[in-house]
Amino acid sequence: MIRINAHYQKLEADYLFADIARRVDAFRSRHPERDIIRMGIGDVVHALPAACIAAFRRAVDEMASDEHFRGYGPVQGYDFLREAIARHDFQARGAEVGADEIFVSDGAKCDIGSIQELFAGDIRIALPDPVYPVYADTNVMAGRTGAASDGRYQGLVYLDCDAANGYLPRLPDEPVDLVYLCFPNNPTGATITHEQLRQWVDYARDTGALILFDAAYEAFIRDERLPRSIYEVPGAREVAIEFRSFSKTAGFTGVRCAYTVVPRKCMARDPEGVPVPLRELWHRRQATRSNGVAYPVQRAAEAVYSADGRQQVQALIDGYHANADGIRRSLREMGLAFSGGEHSPYVWVDSARDSWEFFDLLLYEAGVVCTPGAGFGRCGRRHVRLSAFNGAANVGTAMTRMAAVLAGRGA
Ligand SMILES: Cc1ncc(COP(=O)(O)O)c(C=O)c1O
Repeated sequence: MIRINAHYQKLEADYLFADIARRVDAFRSRHPERDIIRMGIGDVVHALPAACIAAFRRAVDEMASDEHFRGYGPVQGYDFLREAIARHDFQARGAEVGADEIFVSDGAKCDIGSIQELFAGDIRIALPDPVYPVYADTNVMAGRTGAASDGRYQGLVYLDCDAANGYLPRLPDEPVDLVYLCFPNNPTGATITHEQLRQWVDYARDTGALILFDAAYEAFIRDERLPRSIYEVPGAREVAIEFRSFSKTAGFTGVRCAYTVVPRKCMARDPEGVPVPLRELWHRRQATRSNGVAYPVQRAAEAVYSADGRQQVQALIDGYHANADGIRRSLREMGLAFSGGEHSPYVWVDSARDSWEFFDLLLYEAGVVCTPGAGFGRCGRRHVRLSAFNGAANVGTAMTRMAAVLAGRGA
């Protein structure tokens, strides 16, 4: 028989959300009468903006005639979308990013998971804890770690994020080649200021490290003074790759469209020490492995930047912000410590007990599903993540039930 990639056997148990789904399904089959409110999974609930739907339809109609039909698209995505992205997401904010540095894809998850293919097998990797599990897991699969022990993979440098440091990772105190950063953060909801991000860019420039900056939640930033892109920091173009997604911005989780920015000046070195532009490597990788994103999807994404699209996207974000505000208000009334939710759809709650125990309590007693912090790393073991991705009525009911359970009255 053929042998498997044995690194997969190092992966801890199940993927977090599969584990949650299994517990919820088991509960539902035992209690089919109970109404369950999902405050856990980070999936949006509202319809696509009308401007996106209209553009989607128009593009589908184009595909219905031989005259306008389009087959395989360009490797990096259509110009119309990449130019709109460069103009609105970067140049309008003073960040120097060109359309030729943008790679449109079907998801930030795939890009974040695949980018590690560009690097040597023995690089040293730093990542925050708690963290979006994809960063660690894809490096485990690639064989860059040892076995898992007590919630951590040997060989990775974990940067603890807790209330004491405001959920901001410290600069590594040992040499690393690659650093994963995520702001606004999943799961903690933490954000980073220009000055704090500048320290990371300076660190990368001083040490030769590369930063992988995951900005999937930038649309939730409410304070105009906070950076939405790492390229708003001078000098970042040489040392950072950025990942963005239309998933949480415009409700594209099911449609699938995202993009990655690899600036022309961003370099790594070959075994002889010769600098190699990472943009060329990523282009080669995408040309080999991908045939891009559907034309109608790219037209729908382009519509996010139209006048109507921008207004409609803002209305969606405003709705989720209102939910997050409601969650934060309720938590304050319950006397629970928390962070996040201000520039993020996620509120990170100090559960003051084991996070799976708290998950079970909320599920069994309140019929509310949260995300146990343990799934995001050792530092999350006494936290749960609540998500604002829900209807306002559901959020209100979930918080009322949660308050009743914690006050000892049952749901
Ligand atoms: C931090 C972070 N990055 C990336 C993604 C994936 O985004 P996409 O839907 O574009 O694959 C998610 C999705 O939950 C996320 O939380």
